[in-house]
Amino acid sequence: MSVLVTGGAGYIGSHVVRLLQNRGDEVVVVDDFSTGLAERLGDATQIHLNLASTDAVEVLGDVIREYGVTAVVHLAARKQVGQSVEQPEEYYRQNVGGMANLLSAMRENSVDRLVFSSSAATYGMPDVPAVTEDLECRPINPYGETKLIGEWMAADSARAWGLRHANLRYFNVAGAGWPDLADTAVLNLVPIVFAAIRDGRAPKVFGDDYATPDGSCVRDYVHVLDLAEAHLAALDYLDRDERTETTFNVGTGTGSSVFEVIDQIRRATGQDFEIEVSPRRAGDPPYLCADVSRIEATLGWKAKNGLAEIIDSAWAAEASAS
Ligand code: WQD
Repeated sequence: MSVLVTGGAGYIGSHVVRLLQNRGDEVVVVDDFSTGLAERLGDATQIHLNLASTDAVEVLGDVIREYGVTAVVHLAARKQVGQSVEQPEEYYRQNVGGMANLLSAMRENSVDRLVFSSSAATYGMPDVPAVTEDLECRPINPYGETKLIGEWMAADSARAWGLRHANLRYFNVAGAGWPDLADTAVLNLVPIVFAAIRDGRAPKVFGDDYATPDGSCVRDYVHVLDLAEAHLAALDYLDRDERTETTFNVGTGTGSSVFEVIDQIRRATGQDFEIEVSPRRAGDPPYLCADVSRIEATLGWKAKNGLAEIIDSAWAAEASAS
């Protein structure tokens, strides 16, 4: 199989690329390399392209035909929630516009298989112990809105011309499957805490007075390698004639609090650092945890790693980089 992976040079995309390569698929990566790194890609074909550019449909069409692409994993997107609030037009242009161009190129070249990188940000602030995919989506920022629109676009293409698609709603992704594929951006809790330790600063905990067991926010942390495996399971699912679902939560089904994450980092690093409790961060749902029964039952996928493995692998990657 020849698979086009958009955003394949990114933290998550590069894990998908490596798993596809390891199982013998041919991989073509399309990335604008704004945050992606070429050295993550091994011998995968690399195409430098912003999916929202005016010539994107044409270039994608050329790539699809030249490499005999039969399926697409679409991860290329802007993904910073705060930035999306400041620059909504850019998020719509890149995430929605890029998706429209991709779908046009797929349609024009009869590529009918798509795994779409969606997000738990589509849910917004659900007040339930575990989120099921059928819950009404009420995103609370442009980032989450663009991901939900992406799901709608895929559904409309399925109706219009028979696209086969799977939307994967990622929960909180962390860890590293290989040390050279670490999350190098300092945007999420685990890399932020590592950066603080490295600089001798006390990591901040945004709020310890939530109505959660220890007062800090709870999230469903999923190992990036498990998440990458879910993409392969979803690709295989698209080959089936009988398909009942299109949208899948990707998490572990187990929530961990910010304090629990920090305790695991203390254990993994052997460093007993101080923390600073800060005010709550605007827009943080107190509790966000996946119900994973659908993906287990339908794709036969289940996360193999828990929080300890996530933190151990992230720290091993961090230590090997420095
Ligand atoms: C995790 C927890 C913070 C930093 C975001 C997006 C989501 C997805 C993943 C996509 C929260 C707390 C954090 C810090 C802290 N995005 N925290 N101190 O907000 O759950 O999810 O990233 O690509 O759509 O919303 O992730 O890693 O920012 O925070 O206490 O310095 O850690 O309050 O409870 P979040 P996060």
